[in-house]
Amino acid sequence: MNQTTFAFVDGVLHAEGVSTVSLARQFGTPLYVYSRAALTQAYEAYANACAGRRASVHVAVKANSNLAVLNVFARLGAGFDIVSSGELARVLTAGGKAENVVFSGVGKSAEEMREALAAGVKCFNVESIPELDRLNAVAASMGKTAPVSLRVNPDVDPKTHPYISTGLKANKFGVAFDDARATYRAAAAMPNLHVVGIDCHIGSQITEIAPYLDAVDRLLELVEQIEADGTKIHHVDVGGGLGIQYDTETPPDIGEFVKTLLDHIDARGHGHRAVFFEPGRSVTGNAGILLTRVEFLKPGEEKNFAIVDAAMNDLARPAMYQAFHAIEPAVKRDVSAHVYDVVGPVCESGDWLGRDRQLAIEAGDLLAIRSAGAYGFVMSSNYNTRPRAAEVMVDGSHAQIVRERENVKELFAGETVLPK
Ligand code: LLP
Repeated sequence: MNQTTFAFVDGVLHAEGVSTVSLARQFGTPLYVYSRAALTQAYEAYANACAGRRASVHVAVKANSNLAVLNVFARLGAGFDIVSSGELARVLTAGGKAENVVFSGVGKSAEEMREALAAGVKCFNVESIPELDRLNAVAASMGKTAPVSLRVNPDVDPKTHPYISTGLKANKFGVAFDDARATYRAAAAMPNLHVVGIDCHIGSQITEIAPYLDAVDRLLELVEQIEADGTKIHHVDVGGGLGIQYDTETPPDIGEFVKTLLDHIDARGHGHRAVFFEPGRSVTGNAGILLTRVEFLKPGEEKNFAIVDAAMNDLARPAMYQAFHAIEPAVKRDVSAHVYDVVGPVCESGDWLGRDRQLAIEAGDLLAIRSAGAYGFVMSSNYNTRPRAAEVMVDGSHAQIVRERENVKELFAGETVLPK
């Protein structure tokens, strides 16, 4: 957890120079709060470790696609990793450059390919032969050549939650390692494709470097074969996935992670190739919190519940992955602590945000749910016709609403009833 940007001052949690109590009063709850300094610090840890090397950072937009967040990265010179034309539109609107965008994803539509080609993205990360065929046809119809990389499945175990591990044989992602060389030959033979790189993404919330080194070794082994077949590989994209501290995890330091990988690639004799990183969680996760207010305390025979105004529709990770997010009162209080399940108002037993948490709280108190900057708001929904939360960015002592809270009318504005 980032202790410098979200820290207690006189018993009150602050986001940089702004009290979370005043943020909640001004903007209401549930409220996502991001820190510009924390976003900058995490991004710069990557960028500084890449400086002077042939390496670049492509922030994974899916982790947090708020325009203000993307704009902070764009101003720092970031590239982006997108998975839809919607994300491309966000990047361009936020001041990112198409020429620094890589387009990932297993099911790109022809229309999405057209838009990305017209915009001039840096590379399409392709995952299958039918996708190569489609991209080749789209490029031909536009009289263009599409830059491609193949996402290879290196079949390494990232030792993370099964829902977010992606580089094993059993996953839907990537071209199987054993088919990759032949798939590269097929790509090289397509007239409107230009092979430029190779990529992988082995999973998310990875807290060790070893699986990356294994994946890179497998990729480089392939690169040598592909080049022996006469196709030049300019870049190696190692994907995202570096973990953060939610609880007691001890992920490697970002700079150390980058340096270790780059040194390893150099040592294997591949230092002349460009290396891409696609971090999402590690640049946004601990740069955001979710503020929520306690509606009721409900003591029970087996469990005590703290019913709060945020729910699984606001932060889906606990319900979806049994994920742990630290939860703490935004104001340190002198009341007796009890063990609570922190739950939302949604009509599902799966609607919980934290289990068995020791909290000194009363109804009406403000709670901060930590590490909510990645896969938080972006995964939120309108389930139970709940308007999605507002988002605020803090920059020093300045707080700005960067997404208005939705209202109920907007939620069904596009709906109609049948005629009489
Ligand atoms: N590149 C590709 C191709 C990806 O699929 C992903 C994430 C990333 C980069 C960024 O990975 P990161 O650095 O954020 O780990 N919703 C889940 C995480 C899903 C990750 C999907 N892919 C969660 O809340 O834990």
